[in-house]
Amino acid sequence: MSKIVVFNGSPRKNGYTSKLLEQVVKGAKSKGAEVMEFNLNDPGIRGCQGCGYCRTHDGCAVNDYLQPMYEAINEADAIVFGSPIYYYQITGQAKVWLDRTFPMVEHDGHTVTPRHPGKKVITIFAQGGSDPKIGAEGIKYITNIFELYGWKLEDSIQFCGTNNPDLQKFEELSLKAFKDGENLVE
Ligand SMILES: Cc1cc2nc3c(=O)[nH]c(=O)nc-3n(C[C@H](O)[C@H](O)[C@H](O)COP(=O)(O)O)c2cc1C
Repeated sequence: MSKIVVFNGSPRKNGYTSKLLEQVVKGAKSKGAEVMEFNLNDPGIRGCQGCGYCRTHDGCAVNDYLQPMYEAINEADAIVFGSPIYYYQITGQAKVWLDRTFPMVEHDGHTVTPRHPGKKVITIFAQGGSDPKIGAEGIKYITNIFELYGWKLEDSIQFCGTNNPDLQKFEELSLKAFKDGENLVE
């Protein structure tokens, strides 16, 4: 059975990011995937403490809401990540999570080696402005880090213009998100 882990960096449970993530989840579940979801706005999340535990261990010493994600990621076939664009970047909540994914790589001082490569990835973004360039740098930033982890981007959806939403476009992207979810399951 395919295992999928979802990370939602939006604080809005009914926002566009959450709705598109929900479609990916529905698509994946319709094909029988087992899905585990993490809400990155959960108050039980601590930022990376920079303790160095993950430089010598494959895991994290912080025992909080995110702790179960390490085993879940290790076992997963696919990762689904979503975030609104806040000030041209992923949200603060998503960045706190990203720091906590430092155990995904090993450093020997010169080279960075992924510890858990080969995951498929779907990314979802929503932004107020209609110009895709607004979110482009932030999207590139996190996509590069996923690449560093050896994760393979299968699709990325960016819904632009939520200040004055094109609902037909949103419907199209919702369908795309559902199909992305289906396609994660082989
Ligand atoms: C703190 C904050 C900063 C934002 N910065 C931007 C921005 O730089 N560019 C933009 O187009 N929209 C910006 N927005 C608008 C959000 O991207 C937009 O409301 C989006 O729909 C939020 O995603 P959600 O619907 O999943 O919650 C910002 C919103 C907030 C709350």
